[in-house]
Amino acid sequence: MTAAVCPGSFDPVTNGHLDVIERAAASFDRLVVACTRNLGKRELFGIEDRVDLIRQVTGHLPNVEVADFEGLLVDFCREQGVQVVVKGLRAVSDFEYELQMAQMNGRLGEVETFFLTTSPVYSFLSSSLVKEVARFGGDISDFVPEVVAERLTARLAP
Ligand code: PNS
Repeated sequence: MTAAVCPGSFDPVTNGHLDVIERAAASFDRLVVACTRNLGKRELFGIEDRVDLIRQVTGHLPNVEVADFEGLLVDFCREQGVQVVVKGLRAVSDFEYELQMAQMNGRLGEVETFFLTTSPVYSFLSSSLVKEVARFGGDISDFVPEVVAERLTARLAP
């Protein structure tokens, strides 16, 4: 059985994440979407909310599990018995950091990183930008699933 972990901070999950998750789920028998804190980013949603949203928007994918973890990704992969990490690549600007992480993870543990290129319709999308647009009252309905848009609007309401 093939298995992979798709890690991220998912604060919150966007249509771009969902696109990568759906395509990865079609390529592996088991896909574990793993949500964690990115220490370099300011958080809007707590881990429980983020996991809850990912669960809701991936409910149609029977081979997808959603989990949260603390600590190193390679340790989580080992606990799960998974040797493949899947990540989405939006643009060249993502590549340098992603390459660094892939190589570090390969050095720290027995994991290979597979990259999926983001569908062009989502290549400009990021959780940070969606939060900014939502914060200033912009329309985010094309960028996140409805349940995420509702949760964002509620969270950012004055
Ligand atoms: O969605 P993000 O914020 O780009 O995801 C980054 C994430 C969470 C995958 C990365 O920060 C990570 O793997 N964090 C876990 C801690 C870890 O293993 N750090 C070393 C990575 S080389």
